[in-house]
Amino acid sequence: MLRLQNITVFQFKNYLQQKFHFTENVVGICGNNGLGKTNLLDAIYFLCFTKSYFSKSDSASVHRGLQGMRIEGNFNRNGDAEKVVCILRENNRKEMQRNSEDYKRFSSHIGQFPAVMIAPDDVDLITGTSEVRRKYLDTLLSQLDHKYLQSLIDYNKVLQQRNSLLKSIAERGYLDDALLDILNDQLVKPGKYIFNYRKKFLHDYLPEVAKSYLKIAGTDEPVVLNYYSPLLEDDFEQLLATFRQKDIMLQRTTIGIHKDDIELMLNNENFKNIASQGQRKSLLFALKLKEFEELKSAKGFSPVLLLDDVFEKLDAGRMQNLLQQVCVESKSQVFITDTHRERLQLALEKLNVPFQLIEL
Ligand SMILES: Nc1ncnc2c1ncn2[C@@H]1O[C@H](COP(=O)(O)OP(=O)(O)OP(=O)(O)O)[C@@H](O)[C@H]1O
Ligand SMILES: [Mg+2]
Repeated sequence: MLRLQNITVFQFKNYLQQKFHFTENVVGICGNNGLGKTNLLDAIYFLCFTKSYFSKSDSASVHRGLQGMRIEGNFNRNGDAEKVVCILRENNRKEMQRNSEDYKRFSSHIGQFPAVMIAPDDVDLITGTSEVRRKYLDTLLSQLDHKYLQSLIDYNKVLQQRNSLLKSIAERGYLDDALLDILNDQLVKPGKYIFNYRKKFLHDYLPEVAKSYLKIAGTDEPVVLNYYSPLLEDDFEQLLATFRQKDIMLQRTTIGIHKDDIELMLNNENFKNIASQGQRKSLLFALKLKEFEELKSAKGFSPVLLLDDVFEKLDAGRMQNLLQQVCVESKSQVFITDTHRERLQLALEKLNVPFQLIEL
């Protein structure tokens, strides 16, 4: 099991300094708009992932006008006390500690404290670009397999180098062919690992998401989810050779696993084009719930579940089913925010498990 027992935030977003104690597995967080409900969930996410779920840059998480921030959390993980600290120094240097020891590589922290967030804008996962779906996939797979995460880091680094090389051709007036060959080689190895991992993993995973969608949506209109990668069509080395001239012309890498996607289809059409709002939300929940279950079975304990404003998104009946499943059956720790105190309290009371209500 994984339980966050308390968290102290210092100069994190709207918080100056505050400590929260979590005494039950089910924690409701309520308060008016802008009081810091989402930020509190994000602080928890930060401890698990070494970064914010919402802001791309670390500095956006520092209280405006101040410098540096700190988040400290005390977990109980399978009976062991685990202290996780994240510090952003005044010069924006980030440090992560586990039990007072500095991490040399933040990547070794990923997957140790698994968590799943569901936030209002996540419907992007259905309607947004392929980048959002790759991020979903990478967040999950990075927590399952360290080599996957390392390959992703390597791949993105080489991809950047390759793109700068391609950009520099115009300025310099010539192409360093040998260097491009070396970068191709360096791209292929992690690229193939990521491709093979995604392909193998999604083969079973996606049909299960589709099945779960039918249950959540209460429909018999089947969705089809497909893994797409250019690497399904040809060998990566071969693709890089085929697209070499195009890449040089467009000054960027136009082929590779950074073009992968999860295609979502309903009745042979693009899901996002024909699905109703409710169907989109159902598919989003099916994807997130599967992510939760996958982490749970891989780790042997439930990830922390962070539910931001979910009452706004799903009707009461489905919400209750979801909570029943994660709070009661999985006995996982759940943080759930809402602006309406009564609505939240009522929903939690119905579960018949002890819960705590925090009012901001
Ligand atoms: N870096 C920052 N420094 C200071 N304040 C910040 C920072 N980032 C965000 N905030 C403030 O935090 C507040 C929003 O907090 P948050 O999103 O957690 O609210 P919320 O309780 O979830 O509200 P809602 O009910 O509208 O979702 C805003 O007032 C915003 O200005
Ligand atoms: Mg919010």
